[in-house]
This record gives sequence, C-alpha cells and structure tokens, in this order.
Amino acid sequence: MSQKRQQWGTRLGIILAVAGSAVGLGNFLRFPSQAAQNGGGAFMIPYFVALVLIGVPLMWMEWTAGRYGGGFGHSSAPGIFQSLRQKNRFIKYFGIAGIIGPLIIYIYYVYIESWCLAYAWYSLSGALELSSANEYVGFLQKHQGVGNGSFFAGSAAAFLFFIITFATNIWVTRNGIKGGIEKLCNWAMPTLFILGIVLAIRVLTLDAPPGAPADQNAINGLGFLWNPDFSTLSEPKVWVAAAGQIFFTLSLGMGVIISYASYLKKSDDVALSGLTASATNEFAEVVLGGSIVIPAAFVFFGTASIATIAASGTFNLGFVSMPQIFAGTPGGSIYGFFWFFMLFLAGITSSISLAQPAVGFMEDEFNISRKKAVTIFTIVTFLLCQPAIWLLNKGVLDDLDFWGGTVIIVAGAAFEAVFLAWFVGIDRIWEEMHHGSLIRVPRLFKFVMRYVTPTVLIVMFSWWLVEEWWNVITMEGIAPENKPWVLGTRIVLVIMVVILVFAVKIAWKGRNPKTYVSRER
Ligand code: ALA
Repeated sequence: MSQKRQQWGTRLGIILAVAGSAVGLGNFLRFPSQAAQNGGGAFMIPYFVALVLIGVPLMWMEWTAGRYGGGFGHSSAPGIFQSLRQKNRFIKYFGIAGIIGPLIIYIYYVYIESWCLAYAWYSLSGALELSSANEYVGFLQKHQGVGNGSFFAGSAAAFLFFIITFATNIWVTRNGIKGGIEKLCNWAMPTLFILGIVLAIRVLTLDAPPGAPADQNAINGLGFLWNPDFSTLSEPKVWVAAAGQIFFTLSLGMGVIISYASYLKKSDDVALSGLTASATNEFAEVVLGGSIVIPAAFVFFGTASIATIAASGTFNLGFVSMPQIFAGTPGGSIYGFFWFFMLFLAGITSSISLAQPAVGFMEDEFNISRKKAVTIFTIVTFLLCQPAIWLLNKGVLDDLDFWGGTVIIVAGAAFEAVFLAWFVGIDRIWEEMHHGSLIRVPRLFKFVMRYVTPTVLIVMFSWWLVEEWWNVITMEGIAPENKPWVLGTRIVLVIMVVILVFAVKIAWKGRNPKTYVSRER
C-alpha cells in the first residue's frame, strides 16, 4: 500500500458518483416491471417500508464502514471488514461476496447497457419506425440474435455496440476515481435528470389512441402506482420483491457503496451524503421512473395489459412498449433517442461502480497500479461477458441475474447488517458515522439499525432459503434443454469464488497485523 491513495475531488462529486451507481437500469426498467407485476399500488407500501427500515440504514452503514476501511488503505469488502474486526482472521473471506456480486452483475449489465446505446442509435436512424407490437418484439429478438432457430444467440450489431460500451466503461475505470468516475458522473447525472424530466412531461401529456376508454389517461396511469392497495400485503412474495428492488436500486449489499466511500477523507460527512444519494436515487426511481414507463403503457395499452407486458419479459416494457409508444407520437424518434440515451447514461454510471470493488481489490491488496489492475479486469471480464452474449438464449444471462442481482446481494446485505450491528457493534458504527457529520441522525435509527434491519434481513434470507433451496438445486422452472448451460454457468461462478478465496489468502499471507494502522488523511 505504498501508492498514494486516490480521493474524490468534491463533496458533490462523491454524491453524484454514488447516486450514479444507484440510479441505473434498475430504476427505469426493473422498477416499473416489478411494480407492474406486483400490483402497482400494492407494491409501493412494502417498497417504502423496505426503504426506511433496510435501505437508508444500510446505506449509512455502508458509507460508514467504507470510509473507516479506506482509512486503512482498503477499498473492497475483504479489507474493509478485516479492518473493522482485526482479530478475526476469517472475516475477510466473507467480504468476497462484495467482489463477486458486482462482478457477476457487471458481466451481463454491460451487455444490456449496450442494447440501450444501440437502441438510441436505432431511434435516430428511423429503424424503430415499425407498426405493430409483434414487429417490435421481432426487432428486439433480431438484435439479441434469439428466436431464429440458430444455436448461438448474438448478432453483429449487438456485438459492435457491446464493444463500444465495454471499451467506454474500461476507459472511464482506467482514468480512476476522480479523473474517470467523478468526471463522468458530474455531467452524466445532470444530463440524465434533464432527459428524465423532459420524458416524464412528454408522457404525462400523451393522448390515448382513438377509441380508448375515457379513463385511459396519464393521471389514471399514475394512479395505478400511487393508489394504495392493501389487498396483497399478506403475500410474502410482494415484500421480497420490494426489498430486492431496494437493494438493487440503491446498489446495496453489492460491495459497491463501501468501495466508493473508502475514498472519502476521515473528516468527510457520511450521514447527510448517504441520505442525499439515497434521496436522489428515489427521486429518479419513483418520480421519474414511475412517471415514464407505467403511465405511458397505461395510456397506450390500458391497465389490463401492463402486468401482462411486464410478465412477458423484463425488457418488454422498455424495449418493446416504449419505442412503440414514441413511434406513434410527433417527434417520436427524438423522444426515443432521449429514452434510450438516458438509459445508457443510467447504465454506465452504474456499471463503472460495479467494476470498482474488483479493481480496488487488486490495487490495494496486491499493490499494483490502477492501470495494471484495469488491464487484468478487462481481460477477465471480456471473456466472462461472452457467454452472456452468445448463450443468451440458453438462460445464462437470467441465471447470472438470479445469483448476482438477487441471491448474493440479499445474502451480502444480511451478513453485512449482522456483522456491523452486532459484531462490530452499533455504538461504534453510530459514533463513527457521526464523525465529521453534517447532520445528526434521529436516535430511532440507532434502534432500527441495531435490531430491525439485521432481523428483517435474516428472516428474509432464511425464508427464501427454506422455500427455494430445492428449486434452485433442481433448476425448477428452467427449460430442460437449458439446464446444462445453466449448470455450466454455476460451475464457472463456483470457480470464481474459489479463485477469490485463494487471492484473499495470498494477499494476506504473512501480512503483519500492524498493517492495520489507521492512516489519518
Ligand atoms: N443500482 C443499479 C441499478 O439500479 C445497479 O441499476
């Protein structure tokens, strides 16, 4: 750890970077799809409960733990956990979840991000002026190279846009915390918000197609999401979906926020900044995300169709319905471009954060330069992305999303909450959180962080394990012809975990406990 550690340039810079990590495809594609599939107004109650009881407390805990670990020169979960609990030799191994989780998400997320860039181009070029829903479905399938009977998925266009997207990600990552990530987020985030506001205004003034019922308007589309519905609150699946969305959208349990926070100075605020980043994400998700796709689909297709479209595929609302809606309106190609370019910006500001834990791990624990770490990262992830592209039709991407986007983040968050609240101790975390803080967090949250957040997470994860472990092992719900590919994917994931266990072991071999001397910055 002899190199000089990088730092953020400004307070606004770090807030925009964390908000950039949080605001992503999850806000504009996953959220509307989850809300639609789980009954709209019925989804929003557990969603807000999860935000207050799990999301915001965990956000504070991650900022606090990250800044603390950064003081010891660590920027990924193994070193950060170890610096918080120095006597326990095993704790660093649990931090592996905070490297492998974002890595798994990265390898499929960048590919989906590249579809957004491709569709931004298709919108401008007029290629999206099609006439029926089926044609839009066919267009998406053609881009993805699925549904044509050939063995491999993928298409030349998809691969070209993937290369551009992947290279841009790598370039930003290579330029470092301040010169790459912060610089990008400083312009990309305001641009994204402007595009989002323009799109929301456009959608809220859309007219329904001729012959549609009078109540099929944008205001009732908002009502689909905002009229509270208590009828499904007793269904655990709605609660799990809502909590899962909170983790995914706030980038929690992924090892990403702690990594970003590790580049703070010891005297930097975490309480207000963590809250501001969460609030910015929620504005993007419920206000912008909730005012674009759902009302647009409501006005065009009616309430009955929203859930059906969402259930027919996660990407159908975003890549099939939205271009179809815009094509039918004046200036549609520009609005289509705005929509997909906004998605691309949301995606790239998130994917660069997903790369950070692995790159930071190599830099700090193996003492290599960022450029070298990024070169290794580029080679490994480029290879790992290939199955997600070419075996899309074999369920590989879905399985990566299942492990990276659901299981590991919920398990990681549960472990983290228990570790920080009970083993490190909430008194220590609370005091550390208020060091340099610009606000005092209400004491009620100390109680929530100590008892409620860890308990809710343990119950949720255990409940999921009991209910699902057999289905996961037997690959329930996966088409028989895809099972060998999904099995192959899981074997690769296990190999990745084994490699990381060895990497952590080697990195700490012979390390003097005196390494854990806080370096006041
Ligand atoms: N938080 C990021 C998203 O919502 C990963 O897409």
